[in-house]
Amino acid sequence: MKLSNITSAIRIESASDTVPQSLPKDLGFGRYFTNRMFTQRYSADLGWHDAAIVPYGPLRLDPAAQVFHSGQMVFEGTKAYRRPDGSLNLFRVEKNAERFNRSATRMGMPAVDERLHLQAIAELVRLEHRWVPDQAGASLYIRPVMVSMERTLEVRASREYLHYIILSPVGPYFATGFQPVSVHVSDAYVRAVRGGTGEAKTPGNYAGSLYATEDARAQGYQQVLWLDAVERRFVDEVGAMNIAFVYEGKHIVTPPLSGSILPGITRDSILQLAPDLGYSVAEDRIDIHAVLRDIESGKVTEAFTMGTAAVIAPVGRLGYRGKDVVVHGFEPGPVARALYEELTGIQYGRRPDRYGWTRVVHTAESREQVPAK
Ligand SMILES: Cc1ncc(COP(=O)(O)O)c(C=O)c1O
Repeated sequence: MKLSNITSAIRIESASDTVPQSLPKDLGFGRYFTNRMFTQRYSADLGWHDAAIVPYGPLRLDPAAQVFHSGQMVFEGTKAYRRPDGSLNLFRVEKNAERFNRSATRMGMPAVDERLHLQAIAELVRLEHRWVPDQAGASLYIRPVMVSMERTLEVRASREYLHYIILSPVGPYFATGFQPVSVHVSDAYVRAVRGGTGEAKTPGNYAGSLYATEDARAQGYQQVLWLDAVERRFVDEVGAMNIAFVYEGKHIVTPPLSGSILPGITRDSILQLAPDLGYSVAEDRIDIHAVLRDIESGKVTEAFTMGTAAVIAPVGRLGYRGKDVVVHGFEPGPVARALYEELTGIQYGRRPDRYGWTRVVHTAESREQVPAK
């Protein structure tokens, strides 16, 4: 199908273009939503159909819909950034669409047409361009979702699904500047095991992490570091972010994609651009005991997390079995800062995109958009 056919396959209903005056400066994360959303439906006999951009509003769901009982559901997170010339950037959105489909497949759900999905994102962002904040560090968060809709309590893959995409203007993750986070290494709870669903972006992984996260918060930490579920010894990831350690100020090590961690697009971008900034990179198993020793001896000079929401967050403190280890004097380190500046520079169109990672969506003023691949 040609791209033009796909665009015309999306029905566009009229909706308000007004951004409420009452929208506060402090947007937070995921509190406000734009005027429109994309939806399409799937049924076993028709496949995907009825693609439309419609006014944002509540969904009608049967209380027996499978999502409420067997929990078949996947989602994604990516962002649109305001460029200096007022147009918008989408960042590696094709990778995001691929991961959406990989998650769907893992959860026994049908794949979406990635070109239609990307076209829906580009069109929705273009229509809602007024909602993309222009404060430093703010962006328009894009949340694609797929839920199982069939009305049955039988535990089996659904034959009906809803695919939708909503948009939320979000503020800078670090409202008061680039700040280190305190992380609790979880000994008692695990997030995911190889062969399980850890590498899929499915809500159960997040629901299962909340109790341990609240427990860590009560102890004064912001995030949980998850160890591998088998030996409880090797570092997996932190909260909803991947993690890396910096050895001697120049060598970046992150756990390999072993099957239990989410393959982050930020992680992949850092692995590609770090060598261009003069750092070496490796994907290696990281023994929690060894890395804590290396932090204490000064061999590990920095630790940082990677993910779409914060891009990069320095880790300032790791707590494990009642003992705390401070990283880089609880100050952001130079490697995290350099990577943050480079990656956000590309995302916001302030620095050259040598990797071809961004797609420009022109606003209503230019009335044209670069089609997604
Ligand atoms: C569990 C988990 N790990 C890592 C990440 C980072 O992935 P990305 O860089 O693609 O946002 C996310 C965010 O999507 C996540 O939910």
